[in-house]
Amino acid sequence: MGEAVNDRALDTIFREARTFSTWLPRPVTDETLHNLYDLLEWGPTSANASPARFAFLRSREAKERLRPALAPLNVDKTMTAPVTVIVAYDVKFYEQLPKLFPHSPGIAKLYESNPDLVEATAKRNSSLQGAYLIVAARALGLDCGPMSGFDQTKVDEEFFAAGKPCFGCDQEFFPEGHVKSNFLCNLGYGDPGTLHPRLPRLSFDEACSLL
Ligand SMILES: Cc1cc2nc3c(=O)[nH]c(=O)nc-3n(C[C@H](O)[C@H](O)[C@H](O)COP(=O)(O)O)c2cc1C
Repeated sequence: MGEAVNDRALDTIFREARTFSTWLPRPVTDETLHNLYDLLEWGPTSANASPARFAFLRSREAKERLRPALAPLNVDKTMTAPVTVIVAYDVKFYEQLPKLFPHSPGIAKLYESNPDLVEATAKRNSSLQGAYLIVAARALGLDCGPMSGFDQTKVDEEFFAAGKPCFGCDQEFFPEGHVKSNFLCNLGYGDPGTLHPRLPRLSFDEACSLL
């Protein structure tokens, strides 16, 4: 508690971590994906609602299902990545609140009747959870390649049965189309030989104000 991680860890997670498009031939095990979730789950979300859902695409078959939705520049880097995760959000996240936020029993009702609040809450917190995924992946020695260049409607139809009631369907991770994609993130061990020089960031004075 209150103890800074060491400089080497800060390099690994932030200063030396890069966005990768090419990958070393080193697999990512399912055990690593479990370890990844077991870390990222602890990142905070509003009312502990945890609206993000993560579909880890590991097989050639799963990647081929994604291919038609990818922007052309994102095809090769995604098809060659050991894993691509669809960071998504469940607009019925409030159904889990009795478990996740039990001391406030009325809170689910607040969301049930307010679709705009549901969408804003799910989008905001699943984006945060996607960032926790990137930080956790780097802490575990993985590299990431986040992407927003894809057709969200196609992904939601293909993986989350959007618009198609899927009663009794046991093939999809998330039946009945109440899960929506937010962004994609390739995971693996990046090939450092292919990196371009790092782009600058805004300085403290450009991005921050002290009030
Ligand atoms: C939400 C998000 C969406 C992105 N979308 C794409 C994308 O569609 N295609 C792509 O090649 N890179 C994409 N990027 C990668 C960024 O361009 C990259 O992370 C940024 O330039 C920083 O690079 P660095 O981590 O190597 O410093 C995306 C990054 C984020 C966080």
